[in-house]
Amino acid sequence: MEQSGAKNTVTITDNRTGTSQEFPIIKVTQGLDNIDLMNLRAKFNLESFDAGLGSTAHCKSAITYIDGDAGILRHRGYTIEELAEKSSFLETACLLRDGELPSAQKLADFKKEMAENASVPREIDAIIRTFDSNADPMIMLQTATAAMSAQVKDDKAHLMIAKMPTLVAMTIRHKQGKEFVAPDPTLSYAENFLKMCFADDNGEYKANSTMTAAMDRFLILHADHEQNASTSVVRGTRSTQATKLVSMSAAIGALSGPRHGGANTAVLNMLDKIETVDGIDAFLERVEKKECELMGFGHRVYKNTDPRAGVLKQVVDPLLEALNVNDPRVEIAKELEKRALGTEYFQKRKLFPNVDFYSGLAFSAMGFERNDFTTLFALGRTPGWVAQMEELDRDPQNRITRPRQAYVGEVERHYVPMEQRMMGHNSASVGQTLTPTV
Ligand code: CMC
Repeated sequence: MEQSGAKNTVTITDNRTGTSQEFPIIKVTQGLDNIDLMNLRAKFNLESFDAGLGSTAHCKSAITYIDGDAGILRHRGYTIEELAEKSSFLETACLLRDGELPSAQKLADFKKEMAENASVPREIDAIIRTFDSNADPMIMLQTATAAMSAQVKDDKAHLMIAKMPTLVAMTIRHKQGKEFVAPDPTLSYAENFLKMCFADDNGEYKANSTMTAAMDRFLILHADHEQNASTSVVRGTRSTQATKLVSMSAAIGALSGPRHGGANTAVLNMLDKIETVDGIDAFLERVEKKECELMGFGHRVYKNTDPRAGVLKQVVDPLLEALNVNDPRVEIAKELEKRALGTEYFQKRKLFPNVDFYSGLAFSAMGFERNDFTTLFALGRTPGWVAQMEELDRDPQNRITRPRQAYVGEVERHYVPMEQRMMGHNSASVGQTLTPTV
């Protein structure tokens, strides 16, 4: 509790010298206030160390708020649960970018703009076709996005929200050796995407309304997530004044890792390895011995529940029913969740299911192959990346992202000629003389 009349600062004392310096506190509208350490080096001749930046805000943002202890995720003040239930992906995209829910006219104009700009140039088709069909689709997507930087200028980068479904569908069809399907501007965003992925060789596709709604909801759940790994990469890259599409391509690279977006694929691999409910206890024992991790569990920020996981869990059962899919892995996943949450290991470390725990099961039921899952995450995250870069471009404190390091390597030393290294002399610090070569 703040005392009345208290100064809005923090004083840090260097106990080696007894020197104290005062640092301002940045007030936030919600969450933890920040100590402004921008003058730390100048005032103290010291730097701060924060591996993985778990306690460091690298920007000011008004887009997304997360309270990890309370399991709250809000975009522009609206909870993810409410948006997932009542909004649509394109409306949420408008909200992220503009800060307000759009008027009917604005939303209609945005939908039209997206539908009219969904196609991608022929050269991009050719780039995707050069990949081996076994190549990681995230690499295809990352390459295609960077290549499109030549076509989509920075002031139109939001058109990537329109084009990403086409690119993702192309990677999926290329892997299966199928012809690409052109976008259909008469369909909704989610239905058009599903048609581009699943249409038959004649271009015919029979929509399932539960599946279309689930896809739209899934995309909302992934639309933004404040300064996660790929978003901090998108901001960091953009801070160099690289193009927005090149920055997005870098973010796709960051998203591909199994600790980030790649976890949804890893969850299905894990469930397959567990095989049956009977395999759960042995698997959890291995996790506790640190021989492996429970993929789809844990989060840097959420320490209570990931609200996106709660919404997704509710989507899975009706989806499977509507699609007439009986997937035994759903039972394994539910039982695994229950048993893991009951162990001291997970309770002590505050590890809970995250958004990736159930999303792979939903995608699998829809007919996506598991190495496509992360591209679906990228599709959902595109409006977030766009909104974050637009916000960065408007920010007067937009400086190049250039962190410091705690250097723990060698001090200066002299180059050792090969003959001396052969004789066992590997190094000499400055001031130390080496045996001269005779
Ligand atoms: N299974 C087993 N142990 C875990 C797990 C897990 N999934 N996650 C964390 N731990 C342990 C970790 O070993 C450490 O234990 P100890 O205190 O004994 O050293 C403790 O919990 C704290 O973990 P941490 O590594 O400090 O946590 P972090 O904040 O650095 O990492 C994370 C967060 C998401 C990378 C990590 O939990 C993880 O790798 N989870 C599995 C991958 C996953 O599901 N990723 C998707 C994240 S949500 C989607 C997204 O936004 O990308």
